[in-house]
Amino acid sequence: MSNADFEKILNTSDEWIVTRTGMKERRYAPPEMASSDLATRAARHALERAGLEPADIDCFIVATVTPDYHFPATACIVASNLGVVGKAAFDIEIACSGFIYELPMAASFVRAGVFRRVMIIGVETLSRILNMEDRSTAILFGDGAGAAIVERVEASRDGFLSSELGADGNAPEMLYLPAGGSREPLTQTGIADKRDKVHMAGREVFKYAVTKMVETSLQVLERAHLTTDDVTWMIPHQANLRIMEAAAKRLNIPRERIVVNIEKYGNTSSASIPIALSETIEAGVLRKGDIILFTGFGGGLSWGSVAWRWDA
Ligand code: COA
Repeated sequence: MSNADFEKILNTSDEWIVTRTGMKERRYAPPEMASSDLATRAARHALERAGLEPADIDCFIVATVTPDYHFPATACIVASNLGVVGKAAFDIEIACSGFIYELPMAASFVRAGVFRRVMIIGVETLSRILNMEDRSTAILFGDGAGAAIVERVEASRDGFLSSELGADGNAPEMLYLPAGGSREPLTQTGIADKRDKVHMAGREVFKYAVTKMVETSLQVLERAHLTTDDVTWMIPHQANLRIMEAAAKRLNIPRERIVVNIEKYGNTSSASIPIALSETIEAGVLRKGDIILFTGFGGGLSWGSVAWRWDA
């Protein structure tokens, strides 16, 4: 879905979208594909790259706000699609912060000896919950999936350095899907009023995002005895190019060290960071020992940062 496609259906322009967001295109899954289908593809890709079989994974975690069903968990379906039955599988729902929350969760599981390998997936089919008549939200989001495998290793090779996660539920309506849950079950009127679609107060979320990304980035680096000069790659949640650039500027991280692919995918929520990580690996620029700063924010509101030493 290109900016030109939006020009045909909304009072918007390529120029407005590019300057305000950095986005040029997004991908929408075809109607027959659900989140589990996208997630399964990403999972297979990750397994292939790691030289592992589905049976080598002890736990599957899916972060999503667009699950196949309210329940059961999409992770159960993904594991089954991969031919795995009997291993742990569950979803987490913390909007765009999903992958940022999954990383320390998976690292803690493997460190504690609960699991040997954990597959963490971020997946969204946000096209299903967009109000295509609302120009302030429709243009922002896309569909996608990314997956990573976190494995137990000896302490000297442990890549997880530090994390800081947070949330503030005082104003859930800043970014939410009003109807379809227990507070407001879905009705015909609700559907007519698009209460089953994304609602957002964009400007407020913007300010919050930059503040929290900067704050938690500094916290995790300090905790890992690092400075922003040590960061080889900053992989931020891809919500808006201006948000990423503002955060990087305040952190004094040069533009060439920020991984940006927002022009191709828009905001894919919990999928954006693993997709960006995957493309960084594919580009062949990641080196053993590189310090990666993951940082993001999303509905909740929620936010977090993770410092990771690459060891592959
Ligand atoms: N095309 C053209 N004009 C648009 C538009 C569009 N797609 N969307 C909004 N506008 C208009 C608004 O209606 C407003 O017009 P008005 O001044 O006549 O009322 C004007 O542009 C400015 O709107 P504003 O909301 O101040 O723009 P902005 O610079 O804050 O950019 C966002 C809007 C949504 C791009 C920006 O606030 C943002 O990215 N926020 C964060 C959202 C986010 O990341 N959410 C996900 C979190 S994970």
